[in-house]
Amino acid sequence: MSTPAPQGEDRIELLLATPDFPPSAAFAAQAEVADAAIYERAAVDPDTWWADQARQRLDWDTPFTEVLDDSDAPFYRWFADGTLNVSYNCLDRHVEAGLGDRVAFHWHGEEGEQRDLTYAELLADVQRLANGLKARGVGKGDVVGIYLPMIPEVVVAMLACARIGAPHNVVFGGFSPTAVRERLEVSAAKALITADGGRRKGKTVPVKQAVDEAVDDLASLQTIVVVRSADAPCPMRAGRDVWYHDLLAGADPHCPAEPMEAEHPLFLLYSSGSTAKPKGIVHTTGGYLTGVATTTATVFDLDPERDVFWCTADVGWITGHSYVVYGPMANGCTSVIYEGAPDYPDKDIWWDIVERYRVSIFYTAPTAIRACMKWGAQYPAKHDLSSLRLLGTVGEPINPKAWLWYHTVIGAERCPIVDTWWQTETGSIMISPLPGLTATKPGSATRPLPGVSAALFDEAGGPIEQGSGVLVLTRPWPSMLRTLYKDPDRFVQTYFSQFGPGVYFVGDGARRDEDGYFWITGRIDDVINVSGHRLSTAEIESALVAHPVVAEAAVIAASDELTGQSIVAYVTLRAGTAAEPALKEALRQHVAERIGKLARPKRIIWADDVPKTRSGKIMRRLLRDIAEGRDPGDATTLRDASVLTKLQQATAQVDQVPAGAPETGNA
Ligand code: WT7
Repeated sequence: MSTPAPQGEDRIELLLATPDFPPSAAFAAQAEVADAAIYERAAVDPDTWWADQARQRLDWDTPFTEVLDDSDAPFYRWFADGTLNVSYNCLDRHVEAGLGDRVAFHWHGEEGEQRDLTYAELLADVQRLANGLKARGVGKGDVVGIYLPMIPEVVVAMLACARIGAPHNVVFGGFSPTAVRERLEVSAAKALITADGGRRKGKTVPVKQAVDEAVDDLASLQTIVVVRSADAPCPMRAGRDVWYHDLLAGADPHCPAEPMEAEHPLFLLYSSGSTAKPKGIVHTTGGYLTGVATTTATVFDLDPERDVFWCTADVGWITGHSYVVYGPMANGCTSVIYEGAPDYPDKDIWWDIVERYRVSIFYTAPTAIRACMKWGAQYPAKHDLSSLRLLGTVGEPINPKAWLWYHTVIGAERCPIVDTWWQTETGSIMISPLPGLTATKPGSATRPLPGVSAALFDEAGGPIEQGSGVLVLTRPWPSMLRTLYKDPDRFVQTYFSQFGPGVYFVGDGARRDEDGYFWITGRIDDVINVSGHRLSTAEIESALVAHPVVAEAAVIAASDELTGQSIVAYVTLRAGTAAEPALKEALRQHVAERIGKLARPKRIIWADDVPKTRSGKIMRRLLRDIAEGRDPGDATTLRDASVLTKLQQATAQVDQVPAGAPETGNA
C-alpha cells in the first residue's frame, strides 16, 4: 500500500528543501523566450537590443535614428528623434489590425457588475474625452490630475491624456484629498478627472465633495471632470465642473492621435522619498512604452491571442500604470480590472474572478498572498483555477513560505512564478525570471533581464560578486525616470551622486548567491514598505508634528507578518498634554487626513524622549531594535542612554491596534 502524497502545510514543508524550480518541459517548449542566448546578445550590445524591441513592439510615426543619447548624463534620452503616440499604440493600431472587437478589459464591479470593454469602444471614448479636454483648454504639456477608483473610465482618462500629450498625474484613491491637493498644486495641474464617489465593501464614500474643499483655491485648476459612478452627493461648480458623460456626449468623436516626441513626458507619478516632500517621478513616451511592452510580453510569457492577464494593482501606483494599462494594452491583450477589495463580498472573490474570466496570468503582491494564506486554502478550493498558467509577485521581498503556498495552492505546482523586482523610478520590471528559461528559487527575483545591468556595491563603491551590498543599476535603460518634476537637482542628488557617473542608486540592499541570483533584502533608506505601498518616515513624522499636541515624532518600520513592514511612531507630547489612549486614535486619524489611511501608524508609543546622537540625529536603528523586541546593544554614542530603558518599557506595554484587512492596492 502506498502512503498518500503529503498535502497542504506538509507539502510546503517538504518543498522548502527543494533548491530550485526549473520550468516544466511543457512550459519551456511553448515560451515566448526560450533561447538563453538572449542574455548574451543583449549584454554585448544593449543599445541594439533595446532599439530592436522599440522597433518590433511599437509603431513609430517617425522612426528614430539615434538610440541612447548620454551627452547630458544623467539626463539620458532614448530614441529622441523618433515620434509616436502612446494611445495610438495601445488602441488604434489594434483596431486597424481588425481587433476592434477584442475585449481589452473585463471589468468586474464590487457588487458583481460585469462590463466588457473592447478596444474599439475604448478608442471611441478616448477620442471624445481627448476632444472634451481640448475644448476646455487642455493641450500638449498641460498636467491633468486623475483621482478615480478602479473603474473603466480611469483607463479612458489616462489614454485621452496620452493622446493629446497632456502628462497625467494619477493620485492613488487611498490618498486623502489633502494629498491630492498637494500633488495638483506642485504639478500646477490644469484639470482634474475624478468621480462623484467611490465604493468600498458595500459603502459609498463621497469623493468629489471631499476633494472640493481641498482644491477650492487652486488657481491653476480650471476644470474638474466628474464621472458619475457611485451616486454620491456631488456639488458641481458652474464654469469649472463638468460631468464626464456630458463632456463626452458633446465632443467631436474624431480625434487623431498626435505624434509626440519620444522624450515628451507621458506622466508624473508622485512617490515617497526620504524627505517629507514626495518626488514627482517623470516618465516619457518612447522609452517607457518600450520597457513596459517588452516586459509584459517576455516576463509574463504573454500571448495576446491566448491569455487573459490580471494584475491586481490599483492604477494609482506604478504597477497599475505599467501592468494594468500600458503594458497589456500595448500588447493588445485581454485583461481584468476588479473594482473592489479581495475580501468582499467574501474572501474567495479573486478566485471567483479567475474562474469566471479564465485568467491565465495572475500578478499580485506578497502581502496579498500572505493574507490569502491566512484566510485558508478553502477559498481558492471553491473555484476552478485550471486556467492559470503563470503567477507573478511584486512590491516587496516574498518569504519562501508564501512563495510555496502560491506555488502549490494557487499554481497547483504547474505555474512558474515570476518574482519581479522594480520601482516607480524604473518604470518597468528590471530583475525577474524569464519563465521559460529560469530555474526559480523562492524569495529571489533571480537575474537582471536582458538589456539591464545590475550590480552590488559595498559602501565605498567596490563591486561585490557574491554576498551582500547595495543594489545599483550600471547602465541606463529606456523606461527609466528622466527627472523629478521641476527638481532636477534632487534627481541627480537622489539617484546619481552616490557612486561615480552613470551608476543609478536604487535604495535597496541585496545579496547575490553562488549562481549570481539577486535576493533583495529591502530599503536601506528611510522609506517604509507597507503592503507594497511606499511611504516615507519623514512624511509621516511631519504629519504627526503638525498636530498641536505633538512636540516630536520618530517613525520607523518594524517587520510585520502580514504587511511586510508596519509603521511604528514614537511620539513626544507637548508639556501639559495627558497621554490618553484616545489621543492615539486622534493622531492616527490626523495622519489619515494629511496623507491617507495607509500611512496611519499601527502602533503609537508615548516617549518622553527618543534616542539621539550627540549631534541631535534620531537613532532609528535603536528604535527599530526596541520596536522588534531586540536588545539595542551598543548605545555609547547616545546623548542620554537612560532613554532606552524607558522606551523599552513603554514599547512592551503598548496596546496594539488590531490589524484590519490588509490594504492590497499595490497589487
Ligand atoms: C520598492 C519600490 C514597482 C513595484 C511596486 C513598488 C520594493 C519591489 C520587489 C521585489 C523585493 C521589491 C523595493 C523597491 N520591491 N518589488 N520583487 N522583491 N522588493 O514600487 O513603490 O516604487 O517601491 O519596492 O524595495 O525599491 P515602489
